[in-house]
Amino acid sequence: MVLDNKLETLENVRENISYNLSEGVTNRRSDFRTFTLCSQGDYPSGRTVVLRGYDSLNNIITFHTNSHAQKIKDINKCPHVSCIFYSKSLKIQIRCFGDASINRKNNRSITSWNEMNDMSKECYFQDPPPGNQIKDYNTFSKNITSGESDYFCVIDVKVQRIDWLFLKRAGHRRANIFFNNKDNDSWVSP
Ligand SMILES: Cc1cc2nc3c(=O)[nH]c(=O)nc-3n(C[C@H](O)[C@H](O)[C@H](O)COP(=O)(O)O)c2cc1C
Repeated sequence: MVLDNKLETLENVRENISYNLSEGVTNRRSDFRTFTLCSQGDYPSGRTVVLRGYDSLNNIITFHTNSHAQKIKDINKCPHVSCIFYSKSLKIQIRCFGDASINRKNNRSITSWNEMNDMSKECYFQDPPPGNQIKDYNTFSKNITSGESDYFCVIDVKVQRIDWLFLKRAGHRRANIFFNNKDNDSWVSP
């Protein structure tokens, strides 16, 4: 299904963002199913993650990761992150800027864990944990136990601002959307 709006008003842009990110959560084939999560470490670092949740009322993007991941160290040092989505077919880029919070061994992580399939859960029982050097490509194992893995993390990104870009032959369109002050929403020269 495609959202039928002409992308001619800032309200249309808000609807477009909400529609596309919600679609990314539920539709595995959506271009918005994955995004590049950028964090600030010794070097700025981006990597692909799966979009696990989008709360359009509170503007929260959710993904899952392992507590040993470099991105967790980065977020602990500095919670400012960006989430970059791009759909080649729709020619729409959505750059979300916000602050990440880590849920581990709390009600939120337990709920997500219980909703996950067994294959996804297995990744969180890897030994040694992600990022450790190993002798050969296959010298790691999975020590699967019952219950939530200690390493499982649910990351919520509270989005403050979105830079939205629509590539169009007749003229590109770009807008900034502000979630804490709608009056600041504005078209931007592309
Ligand atoms: C299609 C795709 C989906 C991925 N999804 C996730 C994910 O949801 N969570 C995650 O932690 N890593 C995911 N990864 C792996 C990350 O891109 C990255 O390699 C890994 O998390 C280590 O990143 P870090 O050391 O910078 O934290 C995915 C990779 C690909 C190619």
